[in-house]
Amino acid sequence: MEALNLKVHDGTGLLITFCGLDGCGKSTMIEKTAAYLEKKGHSLLLTRQPTDFVRRSDIFRTYMDLEDHDNYEYRSLSLLAASDRVQHSCHVILPALREGKTVISDRYFYSCLANLRARGYREDRWIYEIAETIPKPDLAFFLDVPVKTAVARVRSRAAEKDRYIDMALQYELRKEYREICGRSGGILINAEGPWEQTFAAVREKIDELLARRPDMSGQVLALLGELAAGSSVCRESRLSEDLGLDSFGRVSLILALEELLDAEFEESDLDPFQLVTAGDVVRLAQKYAGGAYENTAAV
Ligand SMILES: Nc1ncnc2c1ncn2[C@@H]1O[C@H](COP(=O)(O)OP(=O)(O)OP(=O)(O)O)[C@@H](O)[C@H]1O
Ligand SMILES: [Mg+2]
Repeated sequence: MEALNLKVHDGTGLLITFCGLDGCGKSTMIEKTAAYLEKKGHSLLLTRQPTDFVRRSDIFRTYMDLEDHDNYEYRSLSLLAASDRVQHSCHVILPALREGKTVISDRYFYSCLANLRARGYREDRWIYEIAETIPKPDLAFFLDVPVKTAVARVRSRAAEKDRYIDMALQYELRKEYREICGRSGGILINAEGPWEQTFAAVREKIDELLARRPDMSGQVLALLGELAAGSSVCRESRLSEDLGLDSFGRVSLILALEELLDAEFEESDLDPFQLVTAGDVVRLAQKYAGGAYENTAAV
C-alpha cells in the first residue's frame, strides 16, 4: 500500500483526528481531549466524517445496517463518502484551521481508505488522488483494540446489542488501520486498557505537539491591548476601526512582534489587506513562532 499524500494545511490551528474500529473508544478519547484542550484555552471545533448528509442517506444506512447488501457496489458508497469528506475538509475544517481553531475529527479520510481496502478494493487509484486535496492532520491517532474488545464495547450499548456486525470485515479493518497508520505517519494507540491509560498516551502526544508549537494568541492580544490603550481586544477586533491603530501603531506592532518572536517578517506577510483583525495578527505570529507550524504527521 502506498502512503496517502495529504496536503499540509496553512492554518494556524491544529487538526487532530481519531480513527479506528467501531467501539475502539474514539468518542471517549475525543471527549477527554476536548476537555483537556479547552482548559488550556483552545477554541475548539468538534466534528466528524462522514457528515450526517451521508450517514442519513439510503445507501449508507442500507449498507451499514443490513447483512445483505449485494445490490450495492461499495465503491459507489465510498465515492459518496469521499466526496462528502472533500467538501467537509475544505469548507468546514480548513476555514476553522485558518481561524486558529483546534479541530478534532471523529474519523477522517484514513477511514475511507481502510474501509475501501478492507472490502477488497485494493487497486483503486482515485482515493490517493482525492487525498491530495485533504488537509493533513497535525496528529492522526489510530486507536487499536482487538476486534473482540471493540465488538463487546459496541454490544454493551443497549441500543446496539443486536446490531448487525460483519465480523470478518472487522478483522480486515483492524489490519488496514494498523497498516495505514504505519504508512501515513499516524500514531497507533493501544486502547485496550482502561480509558485513563489510553488517554495518558494520547495526552503525551498532544503535549509534545504543543511544546513544539507555542500558542501565541495570549501574547499577541496582550500586546495589542497595550498599543490600543483602553480598548478590550479579542480575535475579532479590527485593528483600525476597533483598536484605533494608525499607520504608526501598525509599525510599532510589527516591530514589537518581530522582537517578541526574534524574527524578521517577509514583506509579503505584511499586506495591510491581510492584517485586518487581531486574529490575523495572531496568525502571523504563529507562522513565525519557532517553526511551529510544521505538521508532524508525515502523511
Ligand atoms: N481504553 C478505552 N478507551 C476508550 N474507551 C474505552 C476504553 N475502555 C473502555 N472504553 C469504553 O468503550 C466504550 C466505547 O467507546 P466509544 O463510544 O468511545 O467508542 P467509539 O470508537 O466512539 O465507537 P463508535 O465508532 O461506535 O462511535 C465506552 O463505553 C467507553 O467507556
Ligand atoms: Mg463514537
